[in-house]
Amino acid sequence: MSSAGAAERREELVALFKEVSKCTRCPLHETRTKAVFGAGNADADLMFVGEAPGAEEDRQGLPFVGRAGQLLNQLLEEIGLSREDVFICNVLKSRPPNNRDPMPEEIAACEPYLWEQVRLIQPRVVCTLGNFATKLLTGSATGITRVRGTPQTHQLGGRTVFLLPLFHPAAALRTPAVKEQLRGDFATIPALLQQPLPEPMPSAAEIAEAEGAEAPGGEPPPPIDQLGFFGDSAG
Ligand code: URA
Repeated sequence: MSSAGAAERREELVALFKEVSKCTRCPLHETRTKAVFGAGNADADLMFVGEAPGAEEDRQGLPFVGRAGQLLNQLLEEIGLSREDVFICNVLKSRPPNNRDPMPEEIAACEPYLWEQVRLIQPRVVCTLGNFATKLLTGSATGITRVRGTPQTHQLGGRTVFLLPLFHPAAALRTPAVKEQLRGDFATIPALLQQPLPEPMPSAAEIAEAEGAEAPGGEPPPPIDQLGFFGDSAG
């Protein structure tokens, strides 16, 4: 990407930040103190997606600044990275009252912001932290316990990326064995960042066009990665 491209992407990201700061797409705007857009390196190869802001994040307008954030900082440091190297955001940009689980309609209202963030930041590796981010970004109902630590390839925000599901740091703070698994999964990130990205898979519309036919229904279906499954909250 040329530097002009990078500058344009940064400008678009700033515009998106301003939009999110005054977003009223769901009722959470009535109870939040500050929207939490996300923070870090706008050109990062590595992006983390958590669940939703907690009390401290809501107060400061920054992601992962509480205890879970301190653990995230420590795990990053252990693999030779810092917050300035990565971009960190959440599925929801506004805090759910009393830290309750995100609701499907809140995720649906907020997820276009996340796809835009991936499109503009252009990461190579996206780590999902916990069940909500993992289910949304993998487009699968399979819980974090079964998928964590194994990289997947997905189309996100119009790009092919490696997606690495990880336990949420808050779960790691509660259970020492989870913390050790999270630490072990973090240790695989540097090698994943070095791996060449696979060629993008053609969309249904591109396949239909190559075959000289119109895509079924005339409209390309939504990317499978972007369909959320939140009926089941089991890990
Ligand atoms: N937990 C999250 O999922 N996100 C934050 O920003 C903080 C805690």
